[in-house]
Amino acid sequence: MKKKNREANNSNHRMKTIIGTDLELARQLLEAGELVAIPTETVYGLAANALNPDAVVKVFAAKDRPSFNPLIVHVASWQDVPQYVLDIPDDFHRLAERFTPGAITFLLPKNNRIPDLVTAGSPKVAVRIPAHPLAQALLRKLPFLLAAPSANPFGYASPTTARHVLDGLGGRIPYILDGGPCQVGLESTIVDIAEGEFIIRRKGGVAVEDIAAVLGGPVFVRVGADEHPVAPGQLKRHYATRTPLFVGDLQELAGRSAGREICVIAFGNNAEGLQPKCLLQLSGQGSLAEAARNLFAVLRQADHCEASVILAGWVPEEGLGTAINDRLRRAAHDPLPLP
Ligand code: TXA
Ligand code: MG
Repeated sequence: MKKKNREANNSNHRMKTIIGTDLELARQLLEAGELVAIPTETVYGLAANALNPDAVVKVFAAKDRPSFNPLIVHVASWQDVPQYVLDIPDDFHRLAERFTPGAITFLLPKNNRIPDLVTAGSPKVAVRIPAHPLAQALLRKLPFLLAAPSANPFGYASPTTARHVLDGLGGRIPYILDGGPCQVGLESTIVDIAEGEFIIRRKGGVAVEDIAAVLGGPVFVRVGADEHPVAPGQLKRHYATRTPLFVGDLQELAGRSAGREICVIAFGNNAEGLQPKCLLQLSGQGSLAEAARNLFAVLRQADHCEASVILAGWVPEEGLGTAINDRLRRAAHDPLPLP
């Protein structure tokens, strides 16, 4: 019975997935309303023509993503933005000058060129200008913007290599544009303005402190974990590993896991003295940027190590560390401390 279901699922999705660097093929597929996974400096995105609702529907289907979860749109430059929005607050220009192209996404009031499906009915559209040279080159070839969520099945770790995309979406999409490993490794930081206040809706590749420094005023962080979040990528359980993951004080967690086969995700020297089945390092020298770059690949490796539990320590809660801890928290199994 199980086998039958699997075959039925496969027949719904099965197509040949090619990994390559052919920009022209990627352009043609996107023009034809097909999906292409694209590299960005944050994570790989699963791209479709954002102005074509039939193409956008395929994104939700390929990811098994609920359609109430809106998509980020990608453009080549800040100059492309006004044709799709009603207004750009002056302070966003200052942030864009400093951080784009890059790992930041702006929530802007959309005009009616952007289909409601893209924003899941919200009056605001999330706009990002990726820095990756292949993403830039592709966007410059296209007469439309690209809706692109992270190119992973819903709820699992975001992909930071073409191979990760293939592992998750192979057979469901025709083409993966290979731009090498992502240099930032965490999704973009999402910024919003509501009632005159700056609000971070998702912590990510640009540190909140750096945004606050440019704005020179207060920045609020509201990254809810409830059932109806403003940015649903903030769902409490996200980026999940299949093997249970626990986050806390590593030494203490390891002490309580005696007798089990453990996989440890270390940062700097916080795993000193432990002898796990499998030891994965986010950054041996304690660099948060390096840890961000490695995080999702390490979560995937941890799943492959076939331990009975995965243990990770918190990284310092500053700069990119707050976004890394956010992803660890969402990947962790309840209840934290160990049963
Ligand atoms: O770095 C990134 O942002 C990557 C790359 C591919 O650009 N994209 C990405 O997309 O992480 P995704 O779909 O996995 O996460 C997008 C997040 C979700 O939490 C979604 O709910 C939120 O952005 N979002 C998108 N459009 C929104 C909107 N109009 N209002 C509020 N939140 C929005
Ligand atoms: Mg995602």
